[in-house]
Amino acid sequence: MSTGKHQLNKNLIEYYARRATEYEIIYQKPERQKDIQYLAGILIAIFKERDVLEVACGTGFWTQFIAESANSILATDCNREVIKVAKYKDYKSCKVSFWESDAYSLSNATGRFTGGFCGFWWSHLPKARIQHFIKMFHSKLQEDALVVMIDNKYVEGSSTPLSRTDDDGNTYQNRKLGDGSQYEVLKNFPGEEEIITSIKDYSKNFQYIDLDYYWLVKYHVKKSLAGITGFPPSARGGQVAGMTSIT
Ligand SMILES: C[S@@+](CC[C@H](N)C(=O)[O-])C[C@H]1O[C@@H](n2cnc3c(N)ncnc32)[C@H](O)[C@@H]1O
Repeated sequence: MSTGKHQLNKNLIEYYARRATEYEIIYQKPERQKDIQYLAGILIAIFKERDVLEVACGTGFWTQFIAESANSILATDCNREVIKVAKYKDYKSCKVSFWESDAYSLSNATGRFTGGFCGFWWSHLPKARIQHFIKMFHSKLQEDALVVMIDNKYVEGSSTPLSRTDDDGNTYQNRKLGDGSQYEVLKNFPGEEEIITSIKDYSKNFQYIDLDYYWLVKYHVKKSLAGITGFPPSARGGQVAGMTSIT
């Protein structure tokens, strides 16, 4: 029996709601500590004095690093269970607000955002919804806003094995929670080319940083083409000026 797209979305949301109190165990894996410290260092430095929109903030693990230098953060997630955990963290003098919001609409994100952040969200985007999300997310950000996204690379022996691939090329993992409950979770591992192709019409000064366990992209928002016309023009292909990759 095939699993419908609404059911998969519901699975993902329920899975993270039930995982809220045990979520940050994933950040304790010993082999990943060097990368995590590196990513935290970038986030501490990069959003200095910016007003940041964070999508799918979860328990606020990365929010706390962004808060070290940002002016404000609107941290959003669809699950009140994870936001409840996030609210217990210390964000020092940064103005941090948490709102329940669906990442595909972000209807209550109405500020003048000069920064955008998504941690470990791209990997949960079904391929068929990537362009919808990208367009909507960038529509909330100011021209020249700084965007950072981070996510997992698939690493044999460290990542949860993939259980299947669907007709769209989405991959899945079977995950188990502390209470024994099991969920099939959509988890994709996009390569640099796929990311570039998806955001090229919205980005300038693009950089891809390839770590052992994670990737990070950073760029500035370019609205002049994509923002005015709405959907990215389909016929604009070829090399993207200003794109570099750091490995
Ligand atoms: C892998 S966790 C990432 C959490 C956090 N950004 C981090 O990196 O630690 C994915 C998050 O996406 C949230 N989520 C799932 N579906 C969502 C949706 N449709 N809209 C907003 N958030 C969603 C989950 O509640 C969960 O907190």
